[in-house]
Amino acid sequence: MPKLNYGIIGCGMMGQEHLRNIALLENAGVAAIFEPDPAMRATASAMAPKAVITGSVAELLAVEAVNCLLIASPNYLHLRQLEEIAFIRPLPVLVEKPLFTAPEDAPRLAALRVAYPAPIWVAMEYRYMPPVARLVEEAEAATGGIRMLTIREHRFPFLEKVGDWNRFNSNTGGTLVEKCCHFFDLMRHILKSDPVRVMASGGQDVNHLEEVYGGEHSDIWDNAYVIVDFASGARAMLELCMFAEGSRYQEEISAVGPLGKIECHVPGPGRFWPDHLGAPPVARVVVSPRDPKGPKMVEIPVDPQLLAAGDHNGSTFYQHQRFQRAANGGQSVEVSLDDGWWAVAMGLAAQQSAATGKAVDLSAVSYRVV
Ligand SMILES: NC(=O)c1ccc[n+]([C@@H]2O[C@H](COP(=O)([O-])OP(=O)(O)OC[C@H]3O[C@@H](n4cnc5c(N)ncnc54)[C@H](O)[C@@H]3O)[C@@H](O)[C@H]2O)c1
Repeated sequence: MPKLNYGIIGCGMMGQEHLRNIALLENAGVAAIFEPDPAMRATASAMAPKAVITGSVAELLAVEAVNCLLIASPNYLHLRQLEEIAFIRPLPVLVEKPLFTAPEDAPRLAALRVAYPAPIWVAMEYRYMPPVARLVEEAEAATGGIRMLTIREHRFPFLEKVGDWNRFNSNTGGTLVEKCCHFFDLMRHILKSDPVRVMASGGQDVNHLEEVYGGEHSDIWDNAYVIVDFASGARAMLELCMFAEGSRYQEEISAVGPLGKIECHVPGPGRFWPDHLGAPPVARVVVSPRDPKGPKMVEIPVDPQLLAAGDHNGSTFYQHQRFQRAANGGQSVEVSLDDGWWAVAMGLAAQQSAATGKAVDLSAVSYRVV
């Protein structure tokens, strides 16, 4: 397989997680980095000393060795940077979620989809967490066809970001877009169906209440319930709580059907688990048939080197392996622009439903482009 030489656009917390994981890949390296913040740039450069440090996206694209791209800049820049890349040098690209942040941006995606000649893969790390992948693999047999799917995330508050960009909905798309697009993507991935209706309740109740930046109060939400009806008739629910970092597990997914239930329990980042509590929890999958009864639990340990390389249970590495194959023409893109649209559209619909108190019919939204 030809060597992948990444050009990295945005190298803050997540960009650096990508650097650590690219370093573990076979036949891959980082050829160039564009990171405007001096402190982040210095850290990134120390982590990838062979990379050329550039001053703009255009300069990065001019580095001949670069043959694929990763975008890990703030959310509101993703679409415009994809457009700039399309115009200058459309290479295979892995773009962090969310793909876009505002309803009025969606039509630009349709143009991009038609014009872009190389693979665009939207980064959805949660699909590649080993316990989640195991649940997806076994769900049909364990449930006999999922009728109810629940995803619960109980975690720590939003971390501080460069320039505090994540404190405002206008930069992120809103919590149900920024954070929860992952879970809406997982719902479609697990149920193999598209959603038709979204109902939500959410708000800012505990975190960020006193936070003011440049005279503006942070408006991001820290908790929500979202109910989604799918075309298949399945129902899904998301429960998000961002003031629950005392939890043993961060993500808990359960899927139930006529034959039984399957669950997975995924711990949060090991670096946040207190030393005095001993080793961090290990992910697990539990299958609970109805007849004969008898739940069976298996632990899903993840290579410690991969766990240490990021905050996402090893998934960033597995996603890169697959992106690498797609960039080299050895497999198709698994998370397409259409998948990226759905994940954001569901998040925007949930934000709207929570704000208005009304259900949102996804076939009727103005930003529909798939
Ligand atoms: N998939 C996941 O699980 C996951 C997890 C965390 C973050 N993310 C996504 O990754 C992206 C980055 O988030 P983060 O947590 O690393 O935030 P961050 O603030 O730590 O990093 C973003 C970086 O982008 C840089 N930047 C600002 N303007 C830029 C520009 N014009 N061009 C290039 N870079 C620019 C900032 O200086 C900063 O270093 C976001 O879109 C976020 O949603 C994804």
